[in-house]
Amino acid sequence: MRPLHNHPTTLHPDLVVGLSSGDDAGVLRLPDGRLMVQTVDYFTPVVDEPGDWGRIAAANALSDIYAMGGTPSTALQLIGWPRDKLSFDLLGEVILGGVAKLQEAGCLLIGGHSIDDPEPKYGFAVTGFVEPDQLTTNGGARPGDRLVLTKPIGTGIISTAIKNGRAEPNVIAEAIEVMAGLNAGAARAMAVVGVHAATDVTGFGLFGHLGEMLVASGVGAIIEHRSVPLIEGVRQLANAGVVPGGTGRNLIAVERFTDFGDLDAADRLILADAQTSGGLLISVAAAKTLELVEALTAENTRAAAIIGDIVEDRPGTIAVW
Ligand code: CO
Ligand code: CO
Repeated sequence: MRPLHNHPTTLHPDLVVGLSSGDDAGVLRLPDGRLMVQTVDYFTPVVDEPGDWGRIAAANALSDIYAMGGTPSTALQLIGWPRDKLSFDLLGEVILGGVAKLQEAGCLLIGGHSIDDPEPKYGFAVTGFVEPDQLTTNGGARPGDRLVLTKPIGTGIISTAIKNGRAEPNVIAEAIEVMAGLNAGAARAMAVVGVHAATDVTGFGLFGHLGEMLVASGVGAIIEHRSVPLIEGVRQLANAGVVPGGTGRNLIAVERFTDFGDLDAADRLILADAQTSGGLLISVAAAKTLELVEALTAENTRAAAIIGDIVEDRPGTIAVW
């Protein structure tokens, strides 16, 4: 699956995080000792409003920098646009949304590239910086840690409901605010408290990204599924079978390393739901958990939920109760 992970072009003495660990972003040590963090993310529309799509695409691209404990510095814009089918005014609205979000993050747009594309695509390559002692990879979770999630999940299911015309306006509005919210506050809270590991919850869903963290850390997890925060209306949509294709594929992958017990199909799909611009999943020492929850709450993150524990047993696997 990672054909280049030991290729000469992916190995270097100053490469701190590269392709081999499946982490959120690449990290390179600079001559002055600081670490440079780089990531790229772009996707097709997930909501109807062009400005909202732009805001969400920017928040999502910035998120990998925050997940590594970094601060975003510069961004390059990536655009695919069907110039014969959609007006450039519409593209202008997308860009204004994206740029406003970068500005909120204190991140400079310094260039980009656009191509003619039958399907619209939008996103960014982002560069940030982090002090070595603030770097959070997905490989540092330790037995006894608690797991904290900073946004509710369900945006994949809701995006599908939007496309099918089945989502209620209040549910759509909530999902947009969740997806467009920066993970900057969550990253600041992590930096203040000190945590062991973090990743952001995106396309592989909560359990897919948790699974990567468990493999990278050599530990297992127990998740209390009732503690996982959901966007209102998600369970009804999942019960009604409104589920994106990616979520179904995620669940098949996740079931190989998850003991779901007697959880029903809808709940399993939700835990595997492919997220856009989800929150940070943080592994923190048990003794610091409440301090982290308080710091997240002070930063007004959309959630600050303790959802489970890291255990020594059965590394790479999740047990749900
Ligand atoms: Co990520
Ligand atoms: Co990413």
